[in-house]
Order: sequence, then structure tokens, then C-alpha cells
Amino acid sequence: MKHSIKPADGKLMMFIPGMGAITTTVLAGIFNIRKGLAKPIGSVTQMGHIRLGKRTDKKSPMIKDFVPLVSLDNIEFAGWDVFEENMYDAAVHADVVLSKHLDPIKEEMKALKPMKAVFYHDWVKNLNGKHVKKGKNHMDLANQLMDDMKKCMAEKGCTRAVMVWNASTEAYHKPCEIHESLEAFEKAMNENHPEVAPSQIYAYAALKMGFPFVNGSPNYAVDNKAIQELASKNKVPIAGKDWKTGQTLMKTILGPGLKTRMLGLAGWFSTNILGNRDGEVLDNPENFKSKEVSKLSVLDTILEPENYPDLYGKYYHKVRINYYPPRGDAKEAWDNIDIFGWLDMPMQIKINFLCRDSILAAPVCLDTVLFIDLAARAGFYGIQEWMSFYFKSPMVGEGLYPEHDLFIQQTKLKNTLRHMMGEELITHLGNEYYDYMKD
Ligand SMILES: NC(=O)c1ccc[n+]([C@@H]2O[C@H](COP(=O)([O-])OP(=O)(O)OC[C@H]3O[C@@H](n4cnc5c(N)ncnc54)[C@H](O)[C@@H]3O)[C@@H](O)[C@H]2O)c1
Repeated sequence: MKHSIKPADGKLMMFIPGMGAITTTVLAGIFNIRKGLAKPIGSVTQMGHIRLGKRTDKKSPMIKDFVPLVSLDNIEFAGWDVFEENMYDAAVHADVVLSKHLDPIKEEMKALKPMKAVFYHDWVKNLNGKHVKKGKNHMDLANQLMDDMKKCMAEKGCTRAVMVWNASTEAYHKPCEIHESLEAFEKAMNENHPEVAPSQIYAYAALKMGFPFVNGSPNYAVDNKAIQELASKNKVPIAGKDWKTGQTLMKTILGPGLKTRMLGLAGWFSTNILGNRDGEVLDNPENFKSKEVSKLSVLDTILEPENYPDLYGKYYHKVRINYYPPRGDAKEAWDNIDIFGWLDMPMQIKINFLCRDSILAAPVCLDTVLFIDLAARAGFYGIQEWMSFYFKSPMVGEGLYPEHDLFIQQTKLKNTLRHMMGEELITHLGNEYYDYMKD
């Protein structure tokens, strides 16, 4: 049965806390694409196809023609940052895209200026921006964010919005007693409790407005009971956390490959150098801890050491991020993977990925915004596990473990789209093509 999905009529507002490297790269890409100067490379919503029916049907439309997504021409943008640079200057500063990308879109980029942020220095010690709101408590700041959002929606004539967290990774604080219920959280907001993170104030404000929230960083912005209660109460979808881009993307491609062939793993050492502002923030151990937890969680769920003690019971996993300014956004990642095979014989795999962090993250950011807007129009709310494909630490319902295998995640995503549109799910069984099934 087809879900009833409201059409993507009218304009969608993308509200973005954090207007640094990823945000400027997303904007530069969308503005270039709109002018026909670039193609949306890396974006599943814009370039991907989806098979429908049997292989012999030869039906494989583009995803954007199959599900009703908002068109890139119908998106507006607004956001907040602790620095007041407009998006052109911020893009020059981030040094990800080239002047040949920026020159044709200078006007659009200059016109976008961040609003004052909700920011507490204790949560991101390596940042010292001054473009920050003042308020009597967290709740007051959430109300100011809601006022900002109402104003932007009216000014730009938008009918729907999504908030996407592209701001810095906050210090590692696990949810505590104030996150046990919405009531406790609201009390903590009013009492200015120190365990309320800025990302949670943004998430609270978005969900109160009925706007979906996507979390691109490892913060516990929406990964806590209180905010999830609000998402259920207001019937708003949420997704996260931490974009799956460079090294972890490779891990979730290679890890399942080793396991499907029953090859053992003795150790996986991953290290990176990067020199952008994200790298500077992660140079602080409290902020790195958030990232480390997110990056480390991946292998255990893929390899299931509890089921395969001989293969994965004793592997050593280490992840390092080193801040190295000369590299800027052009991160270099090294992986040394010690595997073993038949007769316990050791082998090694080396990966040297010279990637560009924000170039990989931008299409992921765009896709998750478009998909969560679709989910909202389809009446989906709460955690959107089918979007795990995009995240390092996918959020899942209570009692479930996250699925990290990229290809299972992709199957889940595509089957969810088929399910939404009332198409048959594809199991890849394939027996029906052969005579023995027809007899
Ligand atoms: N680039 C990737 O591949 C990748 C992958 C996964 C996750 N991430 C995460 O995405 C986020 C953004 O990455 P980036 O490379 O654009 O970083 P960035 O440092 O260039 O941009 C982040 C921006 O957020 C701003 N900021 C910090 N706290 C804020 C707040 N409370 N309110 C508003 N603005 C705030 C900073 O001033 C900065 O301009 C980071 O959390 C990063 O860890 C990035």
C-alpha cells in the first residue's frame, strides 16, 4: 500500500547551526548546480537510480523521479555561527572550493550571513567566536532561536523547514538524568543546567517548531530520551549521528567484505592528519573523545566478535586524528589492517585515502535534508533508522543494535523508498528466473 505523502509544494528552509567548511561547500555546490555549472556528484538523491520490480522489467528510474523530493531550486538557507563572516568570506576562509566555483555565485554567498549563535565555550574550548546570543537561561535562548526561525520563514516565504547540525563537535558528555524525560529536560533548560548542550537547545527549538532535525556530528543533540520524547509528541522525524564520510566510510565498505569471506582480523590502526577548523576543535581531548567513540563503534557491530570469537575475538582497534594545519581540508588518512587467513597466515592491507572532508560531506548533508523532509511529508516521525546509510553512529530504537554495513544500509534505504511508494520490496532472492522454480 502506498503511503500518503504530501507533495513537496512550496519552499523548504534549511536551517543550519554551524556555517563553516561543510555548510559553505554545500551552498557553493547547490548554487553551482542551479546555474548548470556543476553536477551533484556524490548525491544519491540527485544521481542515484532505484530498481523496481523484476530484473526483466528493466525499470530503474532515478530516485528523484520516483519519490517526491523538493527540487534544489526550491530550497532557502539560513543559519547561525559564532563568527559573523558571510558565506563567501567563510568559504574563502575554509579554503575547500576554488575561486572558479565561488566567482559565479559570489552574490548569493555574500547575501547569506549567520545569525548570532547559541554557544557555550565550555563545550568547544578551541573556538572563540563572539557572535553569540545572550539570554537569561537555556529556555530563553531556545525561544530566541524560534523567533529567528519564524522571521526567516516569513521573509523567505517557506512552508516547511529542516534543521541540520553542521556546527563543531561538542565535548563528550553522555546524556544524564536531565535527559531522562522531556519534563526533566525542560526544567533543566529553565534552571540553566550545565549538562544542556548548545546542540540540544537548537534541537529543542527545531522540534518545538515541528521541524525535522539531522545531526551531522557525534553530539548527543537528538540522541537522548528527552528530545526523542519531544520528537514523538510533535510527530517530527530526527536522524543522526555523525556523517559517514572518509575513513569510516572505507571501514564500512571493507569490514563487511572481510567478514563475508570469513577472513580474520588481528588489528586495525587508523590515523589521520587534517588542518581545518574541525581538526582544530578535535585537537581538544574532550571534543576528540566524542569523535573517537563514534569512530570506534563501527567495527564491533559489523564483525560481531561474540559470534566469531576465532576471527574477531581479539582484534586491536585504534583511531587517531592529528591536527596538522598545512593540510587544511585536504585530509590524509592511513589505515593499516592486519588480517589472517587459512592456516592463520598473516596478511596486511594498507589504505592511504587522500580525501577532501567537506567534499565528501556536502552531498551527504544535502541527501539527508531532502530525505528527512520526505519522511516528514510521509508521516514518519522519531528516529529514521533507514537513513543509517549516511551516519557513523546510526541512531536506533531502544534495544536495537545499529546496522553499520553500508550495503545492508543501502538496501534498507531503497526498500524504505519502495515501501513508501507502495512498490514491492526487493529481497534479491532471484529464484523466479530459473526453471526449477517454475516446475
Ligand atoms: N567533514 C566531514 O567529513 C565530517 C564528517 C563527519 C562529521 N563532521 C562534523 O560536521 C561538523 C562540521 O564540520 P566542518 O568541517 O564544517 O567544521 P567547521 O569547523 O568548518 O564548521 C563548524 C562551524 O560551526 C561553528 N559553531 C560551533 N559551535 C557553534 C554553535 N553552538 N552554534 C553555531 N555555530 C557553531 C563554528 O564557528 C564553525 O564555523 C563537525 O561537527 C564535524 O565533526 C564532518
